[in-house]
Amino acid sequence: MAETNTPVPAVALRAGSGTVEIPQLGYGVWQVPDAEAAEAVTNALDAGYRSVDTAAIYGNEAGVGQALADTDLARDEIFVTTKVWNDDQGTDATRAALDTSLGKLGLDAVDLYLIHWPVPAKDAYVDTWKTLLALREEGKTRAAGVCNFEVEHLQRLQEETGELPALNQIELHPYLQQRELREFHQANDIRTEAWSPLGQGGEVLQDPVITGIADRLGVTPAQVVLRWHLQIGNVVIPKSVTPERIKSNFDVFGFELTDEDLKAIEGLDRGERLGPDPKTFNG
Ligand SMILES: NC(=O)c1ccc[n+]([C@@H]2O[C@H](COP(=O)([O-])OP(=O)(O)OC[C@H]3O[C@@H](n4cnc5c(N)ncnc54)[C@H](OP(=O)(O)O)[C@@H]3O)[C@@H](O)[C@H]2O)c1
Repeated sequence: MAETNTPVPAVALRAGSGTVEIPQLGYGVWQVPDAEAAEAVTNALDAGYRSVDTAAIYGNEAGVGQALADTDLARDEIFVTTKVWNDDQGTDATRAALDTSLGKLGLDAVDLYLIHWPVPAKDAYVDTWKTLLALREEGKTRAAGVCNFEVEHLQRLQEETGELPALNQIELHPYLQQRELREFHQANDIRTEAWSPLGQGGEVLQDPVITGIADRLGVTPAQVVLRWHLQIGNVVIPKSVTPERIKSNFDVFGFELTDEDLKAIEGLDRGERLGPDPKTFNG
């Protein structure tokens, strides 16, 4: 990635014999309609984001690609992630799916390609993973990872292919802190990326512990939650289509949470999912 004047730390991802750097704070576009994605991503790039997280199933890769085509930023200044959907797992289907995604995005390669869900009933994630590694060697992706993998799925990849994902993108917010998975990631050089990092803008942002810290620091509850993610080492990809929120969610490098704040937020864990359980989600 080119040197740019950004406050966002770069996080190293394993990628074959080298490493690739992902910005620790990026921009997610789940539920942004294709027709609105170009404007949303353009607003995010203008606010300073240099990482965009989309997926084939979001149906907005073309809109994201439009923003990438419109910007004056160089391709290597923007980190682009997309994902192979469950129906396209398996060797040939995954190859075809990446080609389709690249076509919509208007790119020769993505920076990170992820398996979207393990889909245990389908039992194709090991072959899909081998395909992602081959596509990386071919230069169609720079790094390979997964989403929603539990320890048992990761261990199976290790046993059957000898290589673990560089990153696992999982549901993670103050009400679902994923301690066991984060420890496994840390022990195995896997980066943790948090999806629904703001708890989808719901109850988490009204929690008295969060609002209390926000009031004391003179920041928003979302900024407190994002700062918590950054300080515990997560890569984080908040979504917003609201220009003011896009900006304020990026403005999280001018203050710090204390150890006491971090402890108080740690105490909020309820093991409460907003999305499906990866062990049983076979959709
Ligand atoms: N791999 C997976 O399976 C998976 C699953 C889910 C999500 N993801 C990725 O993770 C990204 C983020 O997750 P998410 O979209 O589920 O949820 P999120 O980022 O936790 O929350 C987004 C919601 O919060 C609102 N919001 C954003 N900033 C706010 C602020 N400062 N104050 C109050 N509300 C705010 C947004 O509203 P407005 O947009 O109206 O401003 C939106 O409704 C997704 O976009 C996607 O890229 C991946």
